[in-house]
Amino acid sequence: MRVIALMVLLALGSAEPRKARPEGRRGRGRGSRRAGTVKRFAGECKEYTEAGDKYLDCQDKELTAVITGWPEDTVHLLLARNKMQVLRADTFAHFRGLKSLDLQQNQIDKIEEGAFNGLSKLTTLLLQHNRLQVLTEEVLIPLPRLKHLRLYDNPWSCHCHLDSLVRHLQVPGNRNLGNYAKCAEPVNLLGQKLKRMKVELLCPEENDLKPEEIPQGPITGVKPPDATTSCRTYMFPKPLLDCRNQDLKNVPADLPSDIVKMDLSKNSIKQLRAKEFVAAKDLKLLNLSSNNLDRIDTAAFSGLLYLRELDLSNNSLRFFQYGVLEDLYFIRKLELGDNPWICDYNIHYLIYWLKHHTNVEYSGLKCSSPPKYSGWQVEEYVKTYNAECPEDLLLGYSENGQELAVETEEEEMELPRPLTTFKKFEITRLS
Ligand SMILES: *[C@@H]1O[C@H](CO)[C@@H](O)[C@H](O)[C@H]1NC(C)=O
Ligand SMILES: *[C@@H]1O[C@H](CO)[C@@H](O)[C@H](O)[C@H]1NC(C)=O
Repeated sequence: MRVIALMVLLALGSAEPRKARPEGRRGRGRGSRRAGTVKRFAGECKEYTEAGDKYLDCQDKELTAVITGWPEDTVHLLLARNKMQVLRADTFAHFRGLKSLDLQQNQIDKIEEGAFNGLSKLTTLLLQHNRLQVLTEEVLIPLPRLKHLRLYDNPWSCHCHLDSLVRHLQVPGNRNLGNYAKCAEPVNLLGQKLKRMKVELLCPEENDLKPEEIPQGPITGVKPPDATTSCRTYMFPKPLLDCRNQDLKNVPADLPSDIVKMDLSKNSIKQLRAKEFVAAKDLKLLNLSSNNLDRIDTAAFSGLLYLRELDLSNNSLRFFQYGVLEDLYFIRKLELGDNPWICDYNIHYLIYWLKHHTNVEYSGLKCSSPPKYSGWQVEEYVKTYNAECPEDLLLGYSENGQELAVETEEEEMELPRPLTTFKKFEITRLS
């Protein structure tokens, strides 16, 4: 395999702290709108097939445990907003083909070590908005393919017993595991991100602790106009919010929770702020084309779990901040044309993400500057970059104080010298 060393920009401080926001019960009727046949059976879960994958939707069912008899060929198991408290060993062992498991917004406070046994194909595990204080790395060992792990909004207890988990999350290759999860105690570590904290602080015997600064709250802005006044809602054939051509400067507030399509094209929205779309969590198509967009917050697409298509064409985007795309689990299509993409290291995050999401169709990714690469496909530029791997670009920090980290696709590859100082942790499995 060729060496692929990617420079990824970690915009320090740009990741908005995400607040606890259990979403109540707004998922009504989701299953009934799905394509394909919907089958009801014991436990009243809904079963349907989409893009060849079998979904089992058991959300909002007051379940306290996984019920036997659920189809074993389920690929996506949706268990959000139930009442599970403890995940026992082998709970999911018969779902051998499971790729995603959504357990968010339950009351889980304990996960037994073998709870995820047998889930060798699982790539996405959602545990946010629960009551977890402790979790050990052992719990994750049966999940060799895990790429996305959500742990935020759990009251993490940052003491010695969290050490193995935090080290695991901080392994440079585990980029999408546990982002935004924060310590709830002890007081001196309150608000620290597990992903970024100094691991030594967990076991502080010999250390003298100073209270660290708690991250700032989200940016406050002008109150955007209301969705119902500036947009039109159509219920058929699909719930659509049409806000096209309304001279909007911001995403309207109070988005209805049941819309499936939203058209914000031809407005003047220059930036997307954190969590602008959380209310519209059933959204499948979001059209933001022709808006002069030049800045998208890392958490802008937070909550858009079901978004399939995102049109960002004809804007002023130059790159994506690190993390922007991480909330879009089921995205299939990205329109990116007619943007002034700059082909320098900031663009690598986008390419890296696309490389790891091969089922996402995208279009229009062309360099507009620097002149040297103008007109090139961005992928071609990144290929050239990796082939040359210029050492002067592999420095620790860029001018504006942003931290550069390096992602490597394979653990064993040789790294250019400045990178070998990166801390690596060994995971030892005791059998
Ligand atoms: C988004 O809106 C533009 C302009 O209104 C339109 O041309 C385009 O087809 C829309 N994109 C999608 C994916 O519907
Ligand atoms: C691109 O956006 C600009 C305004 O931002 C608009 O005037 C122009 O018509 C758009 N082009 C297309 C092809 O939609």
